[in-house]
Amino acid sequence: MAHLSTLKHTTDSLDSIKADAISIGIFKDGSMSSRGKVVDNMINGQISSAFKRGDIKGDHSETIIFYTENGPVIVIGLGKADNFETECIRKVGGTLAKKAISKKYAHVACENFGGNGSASFGQALAEGLVMGSYQFNDYMTKKKEELFELKKVTVSGGSRVGIDRGSIIANGVCFARNLGNHPGNVTTPTRLANEAKKIGRRGKMKVSVFDRKKFTEMGMGALAGVAAGTDEPPKFILMEYWGTKKSVKPKVLVGKGLTFDSGGISIKPSAKMDEMKFDMCGSAVVLGCMHTIATLKPKINVVAAVSSTENLSGAKAYKPGDIVTAYNGKTIEVLNTDAEGRLILADALSYVSKHYDPAFIFDFATLTGAVLVALGHIATGIMGTDEKLIEKVKKSSVKTGEKVWEFPLWEEYCKQVQSKIADVKNMGAPMQAGSIAGGAFLKEFVGEGIPWCHFDIAGTAWGEKEKSYGPKAGATGNVIRLVLDFMGV
Ligand code: BES
Ligand code: MN
Ligand code: ZN
Repeated sequence: MAHLSTLKHTTDSLDSIKADAISIGIFKDGSMSSRGKVVDNMINGQISSAFKRGDIKGDHSETIIFYTENGPVIVIGLGKADNFETECIRKVGGTLAKKAISKKYAHVACENFGGNGSASFGQALAEGLVMGSYQFNDYMTKKKEELFELKKVTVSGGSRVGIDRGSIIANGVCFARNLGNHPGNVTTPTRLANEAKKIGRRGKMKVSVFDRKKFTEMGMGALAGVAAGTDEPPKFILMEYWGTKKSVKPKVLVGKGLTFDSGGISIKPSAKMDEMKFDMCGSAVVLGCMHTIATLKPKINVVAAVSSTENLSGAKAYKPGDIVTAYNGKTIEVLNTDAEGRLILADALSYVSKHYDPAFIFDFATLTGAVLVALGHIATGIMGTDEKLIEKVKKSSVKTGEKVWEFPLWEEYCKQVQSKIADVKNMGAPMQAGSIAGGAFLKEFVGEGIPWCHFDIAGTAWGEKEKSYGPKAGATGNVIRLVLDFMGV
């Protein structure tokens, strides 16, 4: 696990900071900030003359290094000044972090680039720098000497508050990426529970972990059913953060923590089955948010619930045709043991609906292969019952650059999960609207009248094309920033 850990803010001029490299930005019209001009002057106007010659265009994310007597100067194109948005500075941060790593610069000093110097631009820059610096090399024992990490970035100018905030948020994202990237024999349900406890201690949260015996006695028959096929101890994890008066309704986050999904008796094909170690990325979103909340300690109330188990086909495994009873008393006909995510979420959604009075519930799950068919690795599929809530989710999505797309939960779809011999079945119409069927099933377990939004992150939790602040491969930590923005953390 490695990512930038020291992000320092200063008002010192860039030419006075000792670092392995300095970085400034240049717009498409050739303009530079006052801090940029100081650096240009320091190297005798080489940057402005390169722009005049056309050697630098100022296109967004264009990167050119000047090797000078004062050390390397990394000049990054900022594009057009009038449409420079927070997403642009986030990308600049990511581009710079990756460049520094490829050039083996451990400490870089940079300006606060474009934007108006407000906290949101500072935050986006820090997010880009920290997320862009993320590498997952924990298991590369042989190549260790060749691995290089960006250790420190000093940002001159901009908003100190924004930079600190962005760095804390991005740390939550990197934490979630790590949980996802560690393999199934490391990120086990027990490990998730232990990480939750660690976060809880730091953030003064109440963390309760229920083991197989306990949650089975409590009536979580769906989670117990899925967990029956594995010897790896399953867990139901509950976290409570009370940052304001108890009378304020808590915001509730629910995550699918399926630490390895073989499909169970309805076994998956072996191609890419290894990727099913990522099937706990919904729980990583939840824990990533709680990780950041533990540091920022916002004045809100948050409850988090994670159902965690493997889905294997051991001797006691549940079978197609079995009927299980969820925590809210509804019976479920299991038609496919590979549609296990909705089962373990059924108990978690019922539990939080009964024991809290949620302001809203969000659930996060790598629920369906179908969402990848519909939206690719570009957008998260969302659906829910409360228009206002969904509209607000879309607004946060625009702000953080984490794309979402809404699917309808029309009655016709909801009928498709009704069973002939039980209350519901865990599959909709074969080969049709698979992601919506997942949402329609979950809806049955959300308490009456509770605003709820389901995030199907099966396409976005891993596997996206590398972006400037995204990982080279593996878990992305997507939607954590969206959720934190939504909750006003
Ligand atoms: N974890 C998978 C969904 C998944 C598949 C995510 C591929 C990412 C890539 C989930 O548990 C699952 O297997 N869903 C089934 C549901 C079906 C049997 C109704 C699916 O999508 O095929
Ligand atoms: Mn499955
Ligand atoms: Zn799954």
